[in-house]
Amino acid sequence: MKAKARTIRSILWAIIALTVMSSCNQQKDEENISSKAVHMKVDSRPVKAELTAPPFVPKPVGNRAPQKLIVDMEIIEEEGDLADGVRYVFWTFGGTVPGSFIRGRVGDVVEFTLKNHPDNKLPHNIDLHAVTGQGGGAEASFVAPGQQKTFKFKLINPGLYVYHCATAPVGMHIANGMYGLILVEPVGGLPPVDREYYVMQGDFYTKGKHGDPGLQPFDMQKAYDEHADYVLFNGKVGALTGDGRLTAKVGETVRLFVGNGGPNLVSSFHVIGEIFDKVYIEGGSATNYNVQTTLIPAGGAAIVEFKVEVPSNLILVDHALFRTFNKGALGVLEVTGEENPVVFEGEVLEGIYQPEGPTIQKVPVETVAEAPAKVLTKEEKMELGKKVYNTSCFACHLPNGEGLANAFPPLAKSDYLNKNVDKAIDIVLRGLSGEITVNGQKYNSQMPAQVLSDQEVASVLTFIYNSWGNNGTEFTEEQVRAKR
Ligand code: CU
Repeated sequence: MKAKARTIRSILWAIIALTVMSSCNQQKDEENISSKAVHMKVDSRPVKAELTAPPFVPKPVGNRAPQKLIVDMEIIEEEGDLADGVRYVFWTFGGTVPGSFIRGRVGDVVEFTLKNHPDNKLPHNIDLHAVTGQGGGAEASFVAPGQQKTFKFKLINPGLYVYHCATAPVGMHIANGMYGLILVEPVGGLPPVDREYYVMQGDFYTKGKHGDPGLQPFDMQKAYDEHADYVLFNGKVGALTGDGRLTAKVGETVRLFVGNGGPNLVSSFHVIGEIFDKVYIEGGSATNYNVQTTLIPAGGAAIVEFKVEVPSNLILVDHALFRTFNKGALGVLEVTGEENPVVFEGEVLEGIYQPEGPTIQKVPVETVAEAPAKVLTKEEKMELGKKVYNTSCFACHLPNGEGLANAFPPLAKSDYLNKNVDKAIDIVLRGLSGEITVNGQKYNSQMPAQVLSDQEVASVLTFIYNSWGNNGTEFTEEQVRAKR
């Protein structure tokens, strides 16, 4: 019996040792891949690389042999939307922010031609982090308007890499949108998935405040101070919401190629309502599993993968959340299909994590258990109302009721409030959405219903109507009760 137990034990040890050795070998393979890749044979017939605009990516490389890839990219300086009503002069690789997605495999030789459009005003270049060589190609590609430059490199390390302009002032060229991603797939290609998307974060600095309309010039001082007015996915507030939202069906596997152009801020990339089954950390070969939030450095990337199990609107965010709800870093991945109550069962409420710009979710205000039965005086309502306002309302409408341009209407001196006294209680109880005009400005945001007691509703409305130049209406608990 003893001998048998010993034999089993030896077999187990052998299995463990083999497993450890094979994972060590795998690691060695990864470490040595670049020296191997240098000598990989390349099919010398040139193939034009497929380039795609975000959020799309070119076809996977699959199991093909190394090729000679021809990449033609044009730099275009052009005015576009930073947000609805906010214009900005972007400098782009291929006409989009982020720039065109490039996809190859380890061992490919890339012949890269960079054109600088004749209508452009400035010289530019490209530094690709996937390049081993001087400046990542920056010197070799430095090109004046109306000119073009060609240089050549071999992809010797697999991974997801950032490219960017490196013309002085470098930070400014990047801040204006000059960055993108190049994917170098490993030997045999990445495992197949159902959906792949291209998302890249960047921070923007404008002369005006966030949301100030019209053409906004770049602000060098704010960029220097790292005070971003906009933090965006794919170069525009709402690029990945509404018609631009990403989509998937229940049961599918999704792979996001996520980059961060910076120039200044690191991204705490997170998808609300999902867990990353797998993360290629920093876009390299090491993988982590079951991750909530992954850090993406400025000038870095990550590949995240997950299977979508239930229908929902997954929200892509930088979990430094003021960037999401107040500076624009918010995207949506809409998952449609059959409910699966085994995985999730519960009420789906509108108004939580709304993609239409900065909004606040329902904040239940604790109702005092022994609420006074007596009717509050106006002064008492003002006092309670101010407290409620500072808990539930101020985040959107701001402490002095002035609102946020293009997002949240002002409550101060509000012609809308003063002529709609009848509607006010309804708005607090049930929320308000759709276009309204306040003091001559159009707003189209969504205010969620508020969870408040009758006394709190009467008090907060009394406070609002008796502050900031409004018409002094006083509200009572009975009025609120009647509207419930
Ligand atoms: Cu440039």
